[in-house]
Amino acid sequence: MFGAFLTAGLLAAAPAQSQDAAAKLPHVVILATGGTIAGSGADSTTTVGYTSATIGVERLIAAVPELQKVASVKGEQVFQIASESMTNAHWLKLAKRVNVLLAQSDVDGIVITHGTDTIEETAYFLDLTVKSRKPVVVVGAMRPATAISADGPINLYNAVLLAGSQEAVGKGVLVALNDQINAAREVSKTNTSTTDTFKSTELGMLGYIQGNKPYFYRQSTRKHTADSEFDVSQLDALPKVDIIYGYADMNRVALDAFVAAGAKGIIQAGVGDGSIAAQMKGPLVEARKKGVLIVRSSRVGQGIVARNGEANDDELDTVVSDTLNAQKARILLMLALTKTASSKDIQRMFYTY
Ligand code: DGL
Repeated sequence: MFGAFLTAGLLAAAPAQSQDAAAKLPHVVILATGGTIAGSGADSTTTVGYTSATIGVERLIAAVPELQKVASVKGEQVFQIASESMTNAHWLKLAKRVNVLLAQSDVDGIVITHGTDTIEETAYFLDLTVKSRKPVVVVGAMRPATAISADGPINLYNAVLLAGSQEAVGKGVLVALNDQINAAREVSKTNTSTTDTFKSTELGMLGYIQGNKPYFYRQSTRKHTADSEFDVSQLDALPKVDIIYGYADMNRVALDAFVAAGAKGIIQAGVGDGSIAAQMKGPLVEARKKGVLIVRSSRVGQGIVARNGEANDDELDTVVSDTLNAQKARILLMLALTKTASSKDIQRMFYTY
């Protein structure tokens, strides 16, 4: 039995809806991909060392009958993985399915259940590739479905409520856990295991979900979803972009290996303001001369990586990531490289999205 998640379902069967009330509910599709929200542990006190991605979408929906009070819900199991195993191929499959569904007049919003390890990356990839203003809400859980006080049921309920709301229309792809609403561009996982882990540390969350209602106080100033210039509908693969991590005494081995393996772009998660170590300048120039597009990001996590600040980007023909961390800069660069090889045009994109 799956403890708290399913008990919630058994004990709190939703009251019957009148046909009229049910007919007015928004139509929300839940696309399940795996993760802890679908995870199970040996017993109700297991909150680490459980198995991710074991419960199917129909059981997730059945375990929260309250969903029927806020939306007409359908579920699809797009794939079933722990999200540390997410790949570009998964992202392309998911984005294409989302766009097909959102183009249907009988779909008002989408919820994606997902592992929390890469939720911020999937959410940002969708923020740049979903071609609709309809709500897309990515949700996960930090405790498995079998745990005491599992956070999955309330997170799923809130995500469905948000995805069916008018307030979420046009806000871009949202990440909703722990009663909080964050924008895909700024949110990150900030703690390995606590339920309040998702934060937009300095630029801030967008709002809350409280008492069955979403409350927005801010929205992103950057382009997203229907205003995005990126289209993955005809793509079967994305350009190879890899990340090198900055640290004292770093060396060129990883960079050279990625370039030799065919990387079209490199993100440096540099120390400080995206600084380039003296011993790395030559290798990066060599990579650039081979046509590899170089983006200076930072391992710090917050703040703007300033163009021509810690390195002469004009001279090196490198691009700065603005405030995007390395894993999100990688996503934007992959999509940018499907449109252009121009460093000037790609820099524009990093100041646009
Ligand atoms: N294996 C991790 C993942 O699927 C579990 C973390 C979680 O989903 O909360 O992302």
